[in-house]
Amino acid sequence: MAIVKPVRKAVLPVAGIGTRFLPVTKAVPKELLPIVDVPAIQINVEECVASGLRDLILVTSRGKDALVDYFDRAGELEELLERKGKHAELAMMRRLNEMAQISAVRQPETRGLGHAVLCARAAVGDEPFAVLLGDDLFEGDPPGIRQLLDVYARVGKGVVGLWEVPAGQEHLYGIVDGASVGADVFRLNKLVEKPEPGKAPSRLAIVGRYVLPPEIFPILANTKPGRGGEIQLTDALAALCASDGLYGVRLRGERFDAGDRAGYVLAVLRYALRRSDIGAAVRTGAEKLLRET
Ligand code: UTP
Repeated sequence: MAIVKPVRKAVLPVAGIGTRFLPVTKAVPKELLPIVDVPAIQINVEECVASGLRDLILVTSRGKDALVDYFDRAGELEELLERKGKHAELAMMRRLNEMAQISAVRQPETRGLGHAVLCARAAVGDEPFAVLLGDDLFEGDPPGIRQLLDVYARVGKGVVGLWEVPAGQEHLYGIVDGASVGADVFRLNKLVEKPEPGKAPSRLAIVGRYVLPPEIFPILANTKPGRGGEIQLTDALAALCASDGLYGVRLRGERFDAGDRAGYVLAVLRYALRRSDIGAAVRTGAEKLLRET
């Protein structure tokens, strides 16, 4: 069997406009919206780190520099915390800065997710890489992207994260047709973007986790704009599936669609309920609200 190159890098495309979160995204990138007090992007960075990926590439765009600044060291703030004896907060700030090596590339125009991934080509180079979309927050053990990396290490082909969506929602997603080749692992035959109601080959949707070979880059470079005039990652994945083969792994754990307003609120609630400092108070308050609403 051919030797499978290790995956060291992850690309986090964060250049989208975030229209579903207007008006706040006029001033704040949606990836910085807090899940209680942690920006959504940090949860994905922590998923990468917990999965053994420390070389992270943010694909940003105009007006989103705050996302890159967030991971820089804040010397003055650290000094202030030191002077005030706030050691726990200081340790938290330092851990944030030290946990990963974060760099940024720009997407000069919002030309779609596929184009955003292509913008990371020089930074990734000729090696396989992971992609995480901030819209999808996963709680899992092993973490979401780790589950894909484990399959990649076995099959040496591109792997996409799959999630079983409720019947009737298939038309909102890219849906796969595949053959089961192991527990929760599928060899994919084809990908159907947003199938018409009743025409989906399964309920397994592609969600925001991918491990891709570098061969995806020339495919992306040749992918014509598709739906919405944007270069769609799904179109390039369909071509990769036909040429090199592609696998899917049904993710175990919990998924929150934080790119959707209701999903975002549920993510905040879940993370709040799990917190030892505020969980009990949030539970009591939420139960009261549910009774009264
Ligand atoms: P979305 O389709 O969710 O777009 O992109 P969006 O702009 O973030 O949000 P809405 O739909 O307008 O509310 C999925 C992912 O792809 C990135 C986004 O940042 C998000 O992580 N993306 C999308 C880019 O990086 N560049 C693009 O041109 C488009």
